[in-house]
Amino acid sequence: MANDVAMFFTGEESYKGEKLIYPAASRNQDPILQVLKRFIICDADNIEDEESPLFLEIASGSGQHVAHFAPNFPGVRFQPTEVDDSLIGSISYYANHCKTKNILTPMLIDICNNLSAYGFEENSVDYMYNANMIHISPYACTVGLFENAGNYLKPDALMITYGPYSKDGQITPESNVQFHASLKARNAEWGIRDITDLIKLAETNNLSLMDTIEMPANNKTLIWKKN
Ligand SMILES: C[S@@+](CC[C@H](N)C(=O)[O-])C[C@H]1O[C@@H](n2cnc3c(N)ncnc32)[C@H](O)[C@@H]1O
Repeated sequence: MANDVAMFFTGEESYKGEKLIYPAASRNQDPILQVLKRFIICDADNIEDEESPLFLEIASGSGQHVAHFAPNFPGVRFQPTEVDDSLIGSISYYANHCKTKNILTPMLIDICNNLSAYGFEENSVDYMYNANMIHISPYACTVGLFENAGNYLKPDALMITYGPYSKDGQITPESNVQFHASLKARNAEWGIRDITDLIKLAETNNLSLMDTIEMPANNKTLIWKKN
C-alpha cells in the first residue's frame, strides 16, 4: 500500500535537502489555507487558560500542508500523521523548521485503526483535516476516517476534507473521469468517491456536511461537523 502511494508520485515529486516537495501540494496549499481561515477559530483571547486547539492531520504526505498552515494559526497545535514511515523524515523537517513552533512531532497513524490505539481520547480533537487520501486509498480508509472523526472530534468540531469528489454518481468534468479511470487502473480499490455516499457514511457517524467549497483544478473542500 505504502509503496503504491509512493509510486503514485513517481516523476511528480522532488527532493530538496531532507524535505519532499509535492507539486500538487505546492499548488493547492494556499487555496486550502484561505478556506481554513474561514473555519478555524484562532483567537488567543477566546482560548485563555484552556489548552490550545488541536488540529489533527491524517495522511500528511510530504508535510507541506501543515507547514504552510501552522504559521497562520499560531494559537493552534498542528499534529501531522502518516501511515507511510518513509515520509516521517520529510514531515519532521517541515515541523522542525516551522518558525511558530506549533507543529507537533509527526505520528505514524493508520486511519483504519481506532485513534485510541495512538493515545487519543474520545471527544478531544478540535479539527481533523485530510487532503487527497480518500480517493487514493481503499474505501476502508474513508470509513476509518469518518468513524474516527465521529468518535474523536469534540461536539460541534469540524473535519475538513479536500480532493476530487463526484456527486449523485456523476463525475465531472471529463478530466476527473479520466483521473478516476487512472486511479482504478493503478489499484481497483482506489477511486473518486461520491459525496452522496459520504453524506450517508457521515450520518452513521454522527457527522453532517456543513459546506462544500469549489476549489481550483476541479477539487472541493468539504466541511463536516460533528453533531
Ligand atoms: C496522495 S497522498 C496525499 C498527501 C497529502 N495529504 C497531500 O495532500 O499532499 C495520500 C496519502 O495518504 C496516505 N494514506 C494512505 N492510506 C492511509 C491510511 N490508511 N492511513 C493514513 N494515511 C494513509 C498515504 O501514505 C499518502 O501519503
